[in-house]
Amino acid sequence: MKRLFIRTYGCQMNVYDSERMAEAMGAEGYVTTEVAEEADMVLLNTCHIREKAAEKVYSDLGRLRPLKAAKPDLKIGVAGCVAQAEGAEILKRMPLVDLVVGPQSYHRLPAMAKAADEGRKSVDTDFPEEDKFDYLPERPKSAIRPTAFLTVQEGCDKFCAFCVVPYTRGAEVSRPADRIMREAQGLVEKGVREITLLGQNVNAYHGTGEGGDWSLARLVRALAKIDGLERIRYTTSHPNDMEDDLIAAHGEEPKLMPYLHLPVQSGSDRILKAMNRKHRAEDYLRLIERIRAQRPDMLMSGDFIVGFPGETDSDFEATMDLIRAVNYGMAYSFKYSARPGTPAAEKTPVPDEVADARLQTLQALLTAQQRAAQESMVGREVAVLVEKPGRLPGQMVGKSEYLHAVHVLSDAAPGDIVRVRIDASSTNSLAGTVVAA
Ligand code: 5AD
Ligand code: SF4
Repeated sequence: MKRLFIRTYGCQMNVYDSERMAEAMGAEGYVTTEVAEEADMVLLNTCHIREKAAEKVYSDLGRLRPLKAAKPDLKIGVAGCVAQAEGAEILKRMPLVDLVVGPQSYHRLPAMAKAADEGRKSVDTDFPEEDKFDYLPERPKSAIRPTAFLTVQEGCDKFCAFCVVPYTRGAEVSRPADRIMREAQGLVEKGVREITLLGQNVNAYHGTGEGGDWSLARLVRALAKIDGLERIRYTTSHPNDMEDDLIAAHGEEPKLMPYLHLPVQSGSDRILKAMNRKHRAEDYLRLIERIRAQRPDMLMSGDFIVGFPGETDSDFEATMDLIRAVNYGMAYSFKYSARPGTPAAEKTPVPDEVADARLQTLQALLTAQQRAAQESMVGREVAVLVEKPGRLPGQMVGKSEYLHAVHVLSDAAPGDIVRVRIDASSTNSLAGTVVAA
């Protein structure tokens, strides 16, 4: 028996990929450990989206030096988007690394680990012909929690001017619908109650399936028919791929949860154009109106970038106006980070102090909106999918339809859904009382 330690950076797809890599290595006799010092192999599943995330990988690799020195048989692998973007460069910069594997070839990880055991280093950043999912083992029951991620689509063809994703994850590819249905069915049989469909551009999903092309809406409607699957979510979406049938599904399909992550990045038409987002602020606002017409309680989430090259005070004010108009329940915001190889990286950056100040102003507004959305839940009844025990005796923690964490005294088991009246709101969670099982 060998031990595998995986550290995951970045997005939810990396979380999913790490699980699948652990399963692939599990089939080779590796068990996962939470303690790097115990591991026979350390795998960093990396993120390249912003400079800070990418550089962190190198400092973390540096920190593994004493461990490798004490344990010469320790194997170190780099997976994910830094692996894809930098490939063999990583071996040059960090000779302690044994293998580098990109996000499309991690079904080959077990073979690469074997090679490493035999003293051979390897780099695989192919976009292979074969579909990695066909080569990964079925998901073991031990790995199952009430909620699961399921990748349905990978890659992006949008080429936003700031973004490395089209280069690291490649072109848009949708998995065939029947494979997704089978994977979902398997998860539900093992106890999963909520599935979050993942894709870099998930609402661009168009997979082959029975009767021809399946849209994301069609996939959602088919998944909703699986008995025992109670909740469906999807992330991340692009506004321009929000098709009519998907908007309609939000009004018609009760298993589709009222929480939507729909990044807009900026509220300024000038900046949106420079970002190559291919829509105006107004289009986004109208889209949200149409979505809320289907689901008035929809909790909106978004991503924002401040300090994109050329952003003026009035561009920034336009973003603030858009945020006020939407009223977000959740949001992620970032200072623009120039990424090598992207078109925006050629442009003159906004001074750091200006970008920092704007980020603070924007985050203050988003935090206030988030807090207000959470506080508006007090006195309301929500359905909580119980996930695990809380810190206090008899307490359980789960998520509401709106993805708020909820603490509740209950003898419900993970996977149960309980009706809860919300009594209080704290910084990061709600607390409530069970009203009926
Ligand atoms: N700089 C800052 N933020 C970025 N994002 C993507 N690329 C960059 C970049 N170069 C943000 C976007 C995207 C989220 C996943 O990360 O907001 O939606
Ligand atoms: Fe990057 Fe998203 Fe734009 Fe694709 S749509 S290029 S993943 S920000």
